[in-house]
Amino acid sequence: MRQRGNGMGRPLTRFLLDDHRRLDALLRSVVADPLKVDQPEYNQCRAGLLRHIGMEEKILLPAAQRLSGGQSLAIAAKLRRDHAALASLLMPTPTASIITTIRAILADHNALEEGPGGLYEICDDLVGQETDQLVTSPCAAPEVAVMPHSDGPTVVNALQRALERAGYNLIEDQTAGEKLKVLPNEKEVST
Ligand SMILES: [Fe+2]
Ligand SMILES: [Fe+2]
Repeated sequence: MRQRGNGMGRPLTRFLLDDHRRLDALLRSVVADPLKVDQPEYNQCRAGLLRHIGMEEKILLPAAQRLSGGQSLAIAAKLRRDHAALASLLMPTPTASIITTIRAILADHNALEEGPGGLYEICDDLVGQETDQLVTSPCAAPEVAVMPHSDGPTVVNALQRALERAGYNLIEDQTAGEKLKVLPNEKEVST
């Protein structure tokens, strides 16, 4: 009998829950000093979040759709809009408002995925024994290269549209001034 509530016996849920916790901790650590963002650490966070989103979009949601006879999950469209908003927020140079908004969206989004009847429970039920293959497959979690930050009008407009589509606004956070001081990269994560 499948166990519920603590991730035991649910390998896919356990794997992705752990990744949520890991990324939450990384984001908290990025803003541990409210006046500075550690850029190498923030880049780890960006790469980790994009990798997590990639797993859900490219592996989990398609597998669930396939196992549901080709029918997309009702929750999928909302999750994809959230993912697009999160990915857009990772592009500009981080400000207090951007990081506060990412954390607020993740709080709602992760609850939707983790909660009873959420994405992970649905997928565990659908996928069953295939979960072990999904989470251990080497292509299940490819590394993601992050782009340098961009603050141009194209990026800003795309961010505004992605937030609107997902039903969010940028949360004004002036606690650390309009812009956080970004500590320089020791080495660029990627191009
Ligand atoms: Fe997600
Ligand atoms: Fe997730």
